[in-house]
Amino acid sequence: MCGIVGYIGSKDAKEILLDGLKELEYRGYDSAGISLLCDGKFSYFKAVGKLENLVQKMQKCSSNGSVVGIGHTRWATHGKPTEINAHPHQASRSFVVHNGIIENYQAIKKELQSSGVVFASQTDTEVIVHLFESFVKDGLSDYEAFEKCIDTLEGAYAILLMTKSSPDTIYFAKHGSPMILGINEDNEKFFGSSDAALIGKCSQVIYLEDGDYGCVTSDSITLYNKEHTRAELAFVPLTVTKLSAQKDGFRYFMEKEIYEQSEVISDTLLGRLSDDMIVFDELDEALFDGIDEIKLCACGTSYHSALAASYLFERLSKIRVSVEIASEFRYREPLMSQNTLFIVISQSGETADTLETLKMAKKAALRSLVICNVDNSSMVRLADASILTRAGIEKGVASTKAFATQMMVLWMLSIYVAKIRQSLTSKQISDEINTMREVSRVTLVKEGMHERITRLSKRYLHGHGFFFIGRDIFYPLALEGALKLKEISYLHAEGYPSGEMKHGPIALADPELFTIALMPQHMLYEKTKSNIEELSARDSTICVISSIEFDKADDFIALESHGHYMLEFFEMMIALQLLSMQIAIRLDNDVDMPRNLAKSVTVE
Ligand code: AGP
Repeated sequence: MCGIVGYIGSKDAKEILLDGLKELEYRGYDSAGISLLCDGKFSYFKAVGKLENLVQKMQKCSSNGSVVGIGHTRWATHGKPTEINAHPHQASRSFVVHNGIIENYQAIKKELQSSGVVFASQTDTEVIVHLFESFVKDGLSDYEAFEKCIDTLEGAYAILLMTKSSPDTIYFAKHGSPMILGINEDNEKFFGSSDAALIGKCSQVIYLEDGDYGCVTSDSITLYNKEHTRAELAFVPLTVTKLSAQKDGFRYFMEKEIYEQSEVISDTLLGRLSDDMIVFDELDEALFDGIDEIKLCACGTSYHSALAASYLFERLSKIRVSVEIASEFRYREPLMSQNTLFIVISQSGETADTLETLKMAKKAALRSLVICNVDNSSMVRLADASILTRAGIEKGVASTKAFATQMMVLWMLSIYVAKIRQSLTSKQISDEINTMREVSRVTLVKEGMHERITRLSKRYLHGHGFFFIGRDIFYPLALEGALKLKEISYLHAEGYPSGEMKHGPIALADPELFTIALMPQHMLYEKTKSNIEELSARDSTICVISSIEFDKADDFIALESHGHYMLEFFEMMIALQLLSMQIAIRLDNDVDMPRNLAKSVTVE
C-alpha cells in the first residue's frame, strides 16, 4: 500500500528513484511523484495513473551530481487520485512522502489553518510538511522540528522529508508502516518501503523498527529509537535477488506466478519432509507445550488459507481451531486464553490489521507463530516463531503462489502437530507425507487445461453473478476462487458452501447465474453432487471442476484422477486461478494491477 523510495548520492537520482518506484508500483498505482534537491534547487514531478506517466513527465529532467531525492507511488486513502493529492506534498521549503494514515490530521490541519496555513490537497499527509515548517518558524532547528513533528502525529506512518535548509539530508520516521534504510560501498544511501526497491542497489540494510526516526546525509546516519535514545546501526545483508522479480516471458506476473507454483512448492518442502515426520528446524516443539487450541488470524487470501487449515488441524491434529478475520478480531474485545497458540498468516508480513492482532496476542501473553512469505517483515520480527513459505517475490496483486505455499506449510504444520499430539499413526503420517511429495507434480500447469479454460472463459464474461461452491476444505477454496475472480475481472462472485445454497441463494438461480462447482472425488462427492443437481434443476449455468464427468454440467474442467482430496485441492486451485485470469484478460483488465487495489494493505 503506497511505495516510498529515497536516495542520497552522486549517481543519476532520477533513474534510481524511478527504478525503485517501478519495483514498488504493484503496491499502489493511483499516482506517483518525485522531488529532487540538486545544488540547493528543488524540482518536483507528479503524474496521475501508472508510473509510466511520471516517466514521460520527467523525460527532460536531469539529476546528475550530488542529489537528494524522494519518491512515492500512491494508493489513495484521503482524497481522490489526482495530481494535487499525489505525493510528495510540499510547504514553502520542504517536501514529504508518507505511507500510512495520520489519524489526528484533521485536528492538526484545523490548528494550522487558524494560523494562516493554506492547504492544497485533501490528504492527511500534507499536514506533516506544514507542521514541520511551523515548528521551524517557531525557532526550532530542522532536526528538532522533525522530532517534534513526529511526536505530534498519531496513527501509522513511514515518512521521508527533505528541506532546503538541510540540503543534503533526508529525515525519516517509521511507526506502523514498513521502511528500510540501505547503504552500499559507493557511500550511497537508499530508502525503500520494501526490499524490492533496494535489490541490486545496496548490500546492507536496516529494517527500521516502530518508533525509529532520524536523518541521513551523504556521510552520516543518525538513528534514534522510540525512547528518543541514539540507536545502534544494526545493518544486515540484503540477500534477495532481482531475478525472481522478472516476468520471464510471461504476459503477466500473475501468469508467471501460477506457472511457478510447482517449483516454489518444491522449495517450500525442501528439507522439511522425512519419511515419517515433518521437520521444521525453525520451530521448537516447546511452542506447543500445554496448547489445546489454535487461533488462526489473517486477511483476504491468507484468511482463506487459514479457514482451509482449520479443516486440516481438526481432522488431522485433533486440536480445537478458531479462525478470525483480522479486521474483525481487533475491535471485538476477544477473549484470549494462554493455552491458545496464536497463528497469523500473511504473504507480506505487513498487513496492518493482521499485524495489529499479533500485537494484541503478544500483549495478552499468548504464544505466537507467523506463516509468512517475507523474511524480516514486521510480523516475522514480532512473532515468537515463524515459518517462511518460500514463495519468492509475488508481484501480481491477486495472490496465487503465496496461497499455494501457505496451504503447503499449513498442511505440514497440521501433521507436525498431529505427531506431537499422537493423533495419527506413523503409517497415516507417512501416507500424508507421501501425498505431499506429489503436490509439485500436480501443480504443474498442463497446457491442455490452460487451453480448455481459455476457450471456456469467453462464455463467462457477463451474467448477473458467479457462485463458487464447495464442501469441507473445498469451501474455502471456493471462497478463494471467487475472490480471485472479483479482484481482476470486476464481476460479482461469491464463495458459498454447496449445502447452504438451498437456504437462500438458490433463489437467484437462472441461466444467467454461473455456478462454478468444485466436485472432488475424495471429499463428499455424492453430497456435493446432490447440491449441484438442485441448481441444475433450476437452470443455473454450471461449470464443474472434477475428475469425474458429470452430465448435468454445462461446462466441465477435467482434473486428473488422484488418490487424495488434497491433490484434488491443489489441481482445482490451478484451474480456478487460470479461469479468473483468462476472464480478466478477455475483459481487457489490468491483470497484475487491478483497479482500486494494492498488494500490501498497510492501512486499516
Ligand atoms: C489476494 O489476492 C489479495 N490481494 C488480498 O486479499 C491479500 O491476500 C490480503 O490483503 C492479505 O495480504 P497478506 O497476505 O500480505 O497479509
